[in-house]
Amino acid sequence: MEYRIAVIPGDGIGPEIVTEAKKVLDRVGQVFGHTFHYTEVDMGGVSIDKYGVPLTKEALETAKNSDSVLLGAVGGHVGNSRWYDVAPELRPEAGLLAIRKGLNLFANIRPACLYDGLEDACPLKREIIGDGFDMVIVRELTGGLYFGERHTEEVNGVMQATDTLVYNETEIRRVAVKAFETAMKRKKKVTSVDKANVLDSSRLWRKVVAEVAADYPEVALENMLVDNCAMQLVMDPGQFDVILTENMFGDILSDEASMITGSIGMLSSASLNEGKFGLYEPSHGSAPDIAGKGIANPIATILSAAMMLRFSFDLDKEAEAVENAVKKVLAGGYRTADIMAEGMKQTGTKEMGDLICSQIA
Ligand code: NAD
Ligand code: IPM
Ligand code: MN
Repeated sequence: MEYRIAVIPGDGIGPEIVTEAKKVLDRVGQVFGHTFHYTEVDMGGVSIDKYGVPLTKEALETAKNSDSVLLGAVGGHVGNSRWYDVAPELRPEAGLLAIRKGLNLFANIRPACLYDGLEDACPLKREIIGDGFDMVIVRELTGGLYFGERHTEEVNGVMQATDTLVYNETEIRRVAVKAFETAMKRKKKVTSVDKANVLDSSRLWRKVVAEVAADYPEVALENMLVDNCAMQLVMDPGQFDVILTENMFGDILSDEASMITGSIGMLSSASLNEGKFGLYEPSHGSAPDIAGKGIANPIATILSAAMMLRFSFDLDKEAEAVENAVKKVLAGGYRTADIMAEGMKQTGTKEMGDLICSQIA
């Protein structure tokens, strides 16, 4: 089969890690007889530098007209880059928000799983990790604080900034359905995370999630406040199967969960609409501190490409081949700097990509 993929390298380590994910896709193509056609698209800082905006209409159209999108990361040093001190819609991150909204990618699936051998990279004690860590965060991606009205103004001589958090029932219901469907294929437990002791939007969230849960009698639903969840994640991570939460809480909790897998460089993600279309990207950012050094961990991006094969193209055995290759390389003792431990063999970004390719046969 032939597939058309829009590729957005982006900024910082983006181009480095996307190169490795494409290499792995091409290896899959070679072994399993598929062809992946890539169209490169600018987004983020690179697009600002070329066109003055973080995402052009043409770039969005190219993404829309492809079978799926592969993204590295966008953005520069926050607070200290030429892309920072400008209007919100002109920042690199605005391109990411615009493509998520423009493609209606309301469900962000972030699997967090501790691979065998990475226990030393996980900061939790072995007895806390227990039998392992394997969960999925289903994060709402096109609503909430990220997309509410915002402005900065002067009120009585004092600067004031406003961000608004809005959710409607439809937005909550559709992402809740994704979480319950995800749980049906796993351990059948959904933990819905909110701040219903304070926020109206969380109260509505809880009500709608309970309604959706009624359609999934086999799935156990638990509600948890977000502050407690942040604590429970490091106290007893094994209790979670699927966490369902709103945009901002999901952003924060997924970075926390990533560390339990050893590094944010391990956390893949899929951003999905109602159908088969998706944008696949690591959960981490453009890591300006290590950009250009050839040391970034490409595994999150490579595992995101595997998610693309599974979700968008229904290529289950190809996706498994990639995941197994990652497991084999880790079992062989190879580690990028972020997951390095005593006695292991340190590799760079490119070498890690090559090693993973060599295990796909
Ligand atoms: P970050 O995720 O880029 O980096 C946080 C830390 O993790 C850094 O020390 C970095 O070196 C390390 N890290 C991240 N990915 C790594 C990898 N693959 N291998 C090894 N180490 C890795 O977060 P940040 O520093 O807060 O943000 C930097 C920029 O990225 C900002 O402009 C931010 O807005 C942007 N960002 C973009 C995305 C995205 O495009 N999806 C996601 C998050 C942050
Ligand atoms: C992520 C990132 C983005 C988000 C930023 C860059 C807008 O942190 O994908 O997790 O908060 O969604
Ligand atoms: Mn984030």
